[in-house]
Amino acid sequence: MLDKKLHLAAFVSAGPVSGSHAGWRHPEADGDLLSAAYYQNIGRLLEQGRFDLLFIADILAIPDTLGGSLDSQLRYGALGALRLDPLVVLSIIAGATKHLGLGATISTTYAQPYVLARALATLDHLSGGRAAWNIVTSFQEAEARNFGLTEQLSREGRYERADEFLEVVTKLWNSWEDGALVRDRETPLFADPARVHRIDHSGKWFNVRGPLNVSRPPQGRPVFIQAGASDRGRDFAARWAEIIFVTPGLIDVAVEFRNDLRARAVRFGRDPDTIKVLPGIVPVIGDTEKQAKAQHDQLHELSHPESGLSTLSYHLGVDLSRFPQDQVLPEDLNVPGVEGHYREVSELTRRSGLSLAELGQRYGAGRTTSGFAGTPGTVADRMQEWFEAGACDGFMLQVPYLPGGLGELVHGLVPELQRRGLFRTEYDGSTLRDLLGLPRPAG
Ligand SMILES: Cc1cc2nc3c(=O)[nH]c(=O)nc-3n(C[C@H](O)[C@H](O)[C@H](O)COP(=O)(O)O)c2cc1C
Repeated sequence: MLDKKLHLAAFVSAGPVSGSHAGWRHPEADGDLLSAAYYQNIGRLLEQGRFDLLFIADILAIPDTLGGSLDSQLRYGALGALRLDPLVVLSIIAGATKHLGLGATISTTYAQPYVLARALATLDHLSGGRAAWNIVTSFQEAEARNFGLTEQLSREGRYERADEFLEVVTKLWNSWEDGALVRDRETPLFADPARVHRIDHSGKWFNVRGPLNVSRPPQGRPVFIQAGASDRGRDFAARWAEIIFVTPGLIDVAVEFRNDLRARAVRFGRDPDTIKVLPGIVPVIGDTEKQAKAQHDQLHELSHPESGLSTLSYHLGVDLSRFPQDQVLPEDLNVPGVEGHYREVSELTRRSGLSLAELGQRYGAGRTTSGFAGTPGTVADRMQEWFEAGACDGFMLQVPYLPGGLGELVHGLVPELQRRGLFRTEYDGSTLRDLLGLPRPAG
């Protein structure tokens, strides 16, 4: 048994699909995803389960990769059919919770560093040090078209801009020294001018004078989350990220990925224990194996093959309607989108021989990583196996339907992990950095 504990994050999208394309159609999916109460309820449930973090995924366009049309996304309520703004949703959740980390996805390709630094510093202050940022570079042509571009930046260009973006926001968060906000009524001294500095950043992508007009956030800066899968993406993650999401499919692939990321972090002069690798899984839990199997089958049934294929097309940046649906996914595709997702579905295709239509249904029903369906005991066995093998530092749990599916995690799986000493029973700190055991960066 290891001394250290698992970290648990929940992947939620402020839209119809969080863990499964069947999610919004599930009979136990409850509540109005356009209401504040829906998200506050999710936040409170996760806090009952002592989760580290709620993380909201995001994209900046409704995908039209499948057949060049919005139809499949909108009709079947697929992953990108509707997305509320994560920062607004997280602000609402912040007011209903006390401990839960709050992760917003924001793209370095389409945001401006000053606006982002200010918004996340605000969330970190208002939540008492619970803000995290999922740093994405975006990979969809449709997103470029919403920002005045006719095509996306290249992957290299996106990561180059992202590196400079991170340098600028880090300088902005440090532009107020700790303690610069004095608020002495007598002197009077609201803020000490000697401890607030311009940053005078001048670079290839950004010119920003600063300082920020918000004082240094409680955590120094928000926790950085990343999900780079390509070689360039892994280097970016190793340089900056503190939580890394990954969808490895198989345990040995996960071990190799984590070892690679830790070795790269050392090359960037970092302590590898300051990065937490969290594979995304969709646990399907029942009181008995039979019930879990029935639940699993129901998710498949409710997940229209075209909705999963539509999302897979968007993830890969490849129009999969161009290929025969009764044949397997072609090998050696040129994938402008997420290489990690291509690796994951290619592996599954090799293992199972699924046709493209079947793959679409499987992809839509949930993640393709198998073995996480069963009773709380069998799912906990599998999670323990991954953790003890060094495949991960915790998990990013995707819930098949909300908020009902969270009950199975919070009241079934979490107590089982706690009984095994694998997960906290009480919150043990006030900021997200405390929960994750991460240092507060010096200013
Ligand atoms: C679990 C997971 C969640 C992700 N969430 C988002 C997201 O919400 N928005 C987004 O634009 N990209 C998201 N991505 C994509 C990554 O940020 C990244 O762009 C992608 O993995 C491609 O990286 P690469 O260019 O290094 O291959 C996610 C990736 C993974 C694996």
